[in-house]
Amino acid sequence: MKFFIDTANLAQIQEAHDLGILDGVTTNPSLMAKEGIRGEEAIMKHYETICEMVKGDVSAEVIATDFDGIIAEGKKLAALHPRIVVKVPMIKDGVKAIKWFTENKIKTNCTLVFSAGQAILAAKAGATYVSPFIGRIDDGGWDGVELIAQIANIYNIQGFKTEILAASIRSPLHIIKCAEVGADVCTCPLDSILGLLKHPLTDIGLAKFLEDAKKTR
Ligand code: E4P
Repeated sequence: MKFFIDTANLAQIQEAHDLGILDGVTTNPSLMAKEGIRGEEAIMKHYETICEMVKGDVSAEVIATDFDGIIAEGKKLAALHPRIVVKVPMIKDGVKAIKWFTENKIKTNCTLVFSAGQAILAAKAGATYVSPFIGRIDDGGWDGVELIAQIANIYNIQGFKTEILAASIRSPLHIIKCAEVGADVCTCPLDSILGLLKHPLTDIGLAKFLEDAKKTR
């Protein structure tokens, strides 16, 4: 399973990259706004900076919701860097646009996916990635990981090539569960990635080893 970081914060991207396990980055308009990025020029520059920092795919989301607007915006984003993936919402014109981008060799991430039916449509249109939002599903009282498992089963049976990018991750446990049920990618906040490091027995064991090591020096 690939690890993407779900942020537009450059320090956090650098920290995950320095850990040596980062395969890509996802952003969305809310994450860009959180970093105070304003205006088209600044937004484009920020995406370029992120692309220069990491080796993997970088998802950049379109704001347009009509076919022509999505295509125009997506073309501009894709021209920024070869590793830009155009993030397109799961709406009717979004599906049409994903098909167009697929035919024109532009990578896409179909976002705001909350059902298996939507995931089938994204795959039929040829999306590179499909992003089910598992945390938001959990927030509503359903089970987001179950949706990942269902999509993985369908894609496997049908031979769809679209990669399942588990999004809206809220905890280290989400990452583990997504790995168990066959997500291709998990896009996570830095805290959830770092949370995977933690175990009290590791800390206790290390303290004891370091204490005993003093006896050997
Ligand atoms: C990533 O592609 C999504 O935009 C993101 O994971 C959504 O996460 P949230 O539900 O925490 O906003």
